[in-house]
Amino acid sequence: MAMVCLSDFEAYAKKYLPKIAWDFFAAGADDCSTRDENLLAYKRIRFRPRMLRDVSMMDIRTKLLGTEISFPVGIAPTGFHQLAWPDGEKSTARAAKAMNTCYIASTYSTCTLEEISAAAPGGLRWFQLYIHRNRAVSQQLVQRAEALGFQALVLTADLPYTGKRRDDVRNGFRLPPHMKLKNLEGAFEVCKMSPLDPSVTWNDIYWLQSLTHLPIIIKGILTREDAELAVRHGVRGIIVSNHGGRQLDGGPATIDALVEVVEAVRGKVEVYLDGGIRKGSDVLKALALGAKCVFIGRPALWGLAYKGEEGLQDVLRILQDEFCLSMALAGCASVSEIGQHLVQFSKL
Ligand code: FNR
Repeated sequence: MAMVCLSDFEAYAKKYLPKIAWDFFAAGADDCSTRDENLLAYKRIRFRPRMLRDVSMMDIRTKLLGTEISFPVGIAPTGFHQLAWPDGEKSTARAAKAMNTCYIASTYSTCTLEEISAAAPGGLRWFQLYIHRNRAVSQQLVQRAEALGFQALVLTADLPYTGKRRDDVRNGFRLPPHMKLKNLEGAFEVCKMSPLDPSVTWNDIYWLQSLTHLPIIIKGILTREDAELAVRHGVRGIIVSNHGGRQLDGGPATIDALVEVVEAVRGKVEVYLDGGIRKGSDVLKALALGAKCVFIGRPALWGLAYKGEEGLQDVLRILQDEFCLSMALAGCASVSEIGQHLVQFSKL
């Protein structure tokens, strides 16, 4: 089967993954309107391409908090990679390093942070944190990540409780017994209810800052008000995200929320986006509207399901090539030339 675009990997994953794993990856909350809107919203944005602009030499590199990556697409944190491929997050780390991009490892990884680091020494990695009721568990995780060379802490803000994903409820989704949330072993016995702490507030950013020197990035912001609060609390970056439509159903597509967040932070912190990125031209639209970089969630899992590390590299390479081609066809030779002038968009 020729893998030409990301939908080909989606079709493969749907066909070959066990149904319970496919349903878990695909799930959105309630009737999935926000999940689907994340993709549809890109179709409403039109380019204003420029011509005759010498695109013989293309430069698609960018920087995340000062560290160069080869193109502006990283890997969003998703849990349970062993459901897609036996080597799990180790394969993800290797693929990200091979493509010289950033991998945000989830709290809910099925490999330990130590295994992830050892799989791809020197790769650019950030650690995604859910704050646990037992704060000692979170403190220990943050400090382990920092000691292992993870370069930023990504606090996910949109999951005080897990959204209602109907297929997971119907399937009685749980990890198969041979897979473990390796970074949290023991932590679940401590709390009998959901181990995540729904009482987290903005003040807890100060608590995190007292634990670590790592820059803190907040993931899950969708409004001007929260973007301003994030800046005021000293975060270094914001990921505009709705968790791939898995949390509150009925919220905006992330590409629709991006402009208001970018305007609110007025260049004080970097703004990234995830949700619905399926083509290189989606990446170009997000950068035109002010994102410094985008991250992919489900497409990375489809790549893993196809051929592990190699499959994920294929996914990243296809997005890279498509992004480069879209840039050239729109008349941009370097990411620094991408701006709002490139798009027609009702939200501008
Ligand atoms: C996620 N996401 C997520 N986010 C997070 O902060 N920690 C996590 O452990 C997970 N786990 C997770 C599992 C699965 C199966 C999915 C699909 C998503 C959300 C993820 O980081 C990201 O926001 C979305 O996946 C982006 O949307 P796309 O690219 O999947 O459309």
